[in-house]
Amino acid sequence: MFIYREKDYGSMSRRAAQVIAAELIRNPSCVLGLATGSTPVGAYQCLADWCKQGLISFKDVLSVNLDEYKGLSPEHDQSYRYFMQQNLFNHVDIRPENTRVPNGLAADPQEECAQYDAYIRSLGYADLQLLGLGRNGHIGFNEPGGSFIKETHVVDLTQSTIDANARFFASADDVPRQALTMGVGCIMAARRVLVVASGADKADAVYNVVCGPIAPSCPGSILQLHKDVVLVADEAALSKLTAAGVAL
Ligand code: F6R
Repeated sequence: MFIYREKDYGSMSRRAAQVIAAELIRNPSCVLGLATGSTPVGAYQCLADWCKQGLISFKDVLSVNLDEYKGLSPEHDQSYRYFMQQNLFNHVDIRPENTRVPNGLAADPQEECAQYDAYIRSLGYADLQLLGLGRNGHIGFNEPGGSFIKETHVVDLTQSTIDANARFFASADDVPRQALTMGVGCIMAARRVLVVASGADKADAVYNVVCGPIAPSCPGSILQLHKDVVLVADEAALSKLTAAGVAL
């Protein structure tokens, strides 16, 4: 795992955007696996700026998002489709038909998951998969549990995730209890994985992902088995690693 130690959220965001931009320049028709949440917002802003300046282009990019809340429409302002439109897609030259987010309103969610998996497989998996980290170590919405689930699946969100995401909703009661998420199979099949983390509340998760035992109790720990992971994190998120004396 290659770790970039950045001073703060701003430099973490720029560095993460540089890693993504390098992929776009290397392979203009790459498959990008994308994430939502507050951590990647700054990186998406950088990418949007660089695209407007003509430095990079998403014209031939295909994107696949990690996850979507079950029961939220694409127009719901807390859906992940809406997030992607607002934070990236509306500001770059990506073709709308080349963007995929699981359908949270699918009549048959299991079938939607199977089709989503088949689609990603048909693309040959992501060239670069962007991931945020849950405070509980989740990646996508692969929550801590008894096993690593390979396929795209419907997941019951843990209380910790519901509480963490309640800040975006009017109340914790409004947070959906389930989501559709890529499994660890698609994530691990990506050629390169880029993990972003910011803030002291991610320090335990970062530590466990980098140094903890590889176990489904911390889903992100499976990334230790991936041959090309880049972690871009700020000092606060790396604080437990540095306190433990891990050389960065
Ligand atoms: C989002 C996702 C989640 C988030 C994670 C961190 O698509 O899959 O795993 O990346 O919950 O969220 P933030 O960045 O809001 O702390």
